[in-house]
Amino acid sequence: MPISSSGDSADTIWNPTRYLAFASERTRPFIDLLSRVNHPNARSIVDYGCGPGNGMPVLRHHWPAAHITGVDSSQEMLESARVSTHDDAKITYQRADIRTFIPSEPVDLAVSNAALQWLPDHRELLPVIQRNIAPGGVLAVQVPGNYAAPSHRLLYELAGRSPYAEHIDPGTLLNPTAPVIDYMLDVSGQDWTVEAWETTYQHVLQGEDPVFEWISAAAARPVLSALPPAELEQFTAEYKAALRAAYPQTRIGTILPFRRIFFIARRTG
Ligand SMILES: C[S@@+](CC[C@H](N)C(=O)[O-])C[C@H]1O[C@@H](n2cnc3c(N)ncnc32)[C@H](O)[C@@H]1O
Repeated sequence: MPISSSGDSADTIWNPTRYLAFASERTRPFIDLLSRVNHPNARSIVDYGCGPGNGMPVLRHHWPAAHITGVDSSQEMLESARVSTHDDAKITYQRADIRTFIPSEPVDLAVSNAALQWLPDHRELLPVIQRNIAPGGVLAVQVPGNYAAPSHRLLYELAGRSPYAEHIDPGTLLNPTAPVIDYMLDVSGQDWTVEAWETTYQHVLQGEDPVFEWISAAAARPVLSALPPAELEQFTAEYKAALRAAYPQTRIGTILPFRRIFFIARRTG
């Protein structure tokens, strides 16, 4: 599948600086995911949807000598990633679509943090990724599980109304991810053992409209980038007001509960 001119499957441009404004919160699930992998001898790793490279230090911490390939379709994200890891010769990047990327040889570890949900057909890709994992290797994935949260519900309710709906292609919007059990069954099979869990993080965000700042750099991008300037301004004002009501400021900041799904499959044979 060709990479879209603007860089990813949702056909909008990523802004690494805005995405990384919450780097600590966005990287935390990757830290938790990798802490369960337990494959100290992994020598080759692919990070599917590596984004601006915020996960690379975490991978390097666990696997100091491994060769790591970051795969992403966004030119902007890859540029940011290359800058942040320029002094590590064993990290390379490839601009490619996850749906068609095949490593040159089977890898010891395939990871993906907060990326596969951008692909409506991502569950069908899991066996393809698994086929390219070496015996003894591991697949480790985290996807959000927060599509019923007010942040998303309000976004899609508003986007479905006039005058916004006529500008938005529903096909560019994120689909809900599957229940964790579905992913467990997807990646299980002969020669594979599976572990999975869910966590709801309680992020404490500071500043004005922090939930809007968070989501406008990620899940809301397809909606925001589809709107012409006047509608965008109006949409932003309405959406911010709705988010402020749904996520009120407390004396410690604005609390954003964020549910995430984790699954790990280990190839035993
Ligand atoms: C939310 S970011 C996650 C970045 C990083 N993995 C992290 O832990 O924060 C999702 C990334 O997936 C990438 N992506 C989305 N669809 C893709 C596709 N079809 N092929 C390759 N990368 C894709 C985007 O460009 C973006 O960098």
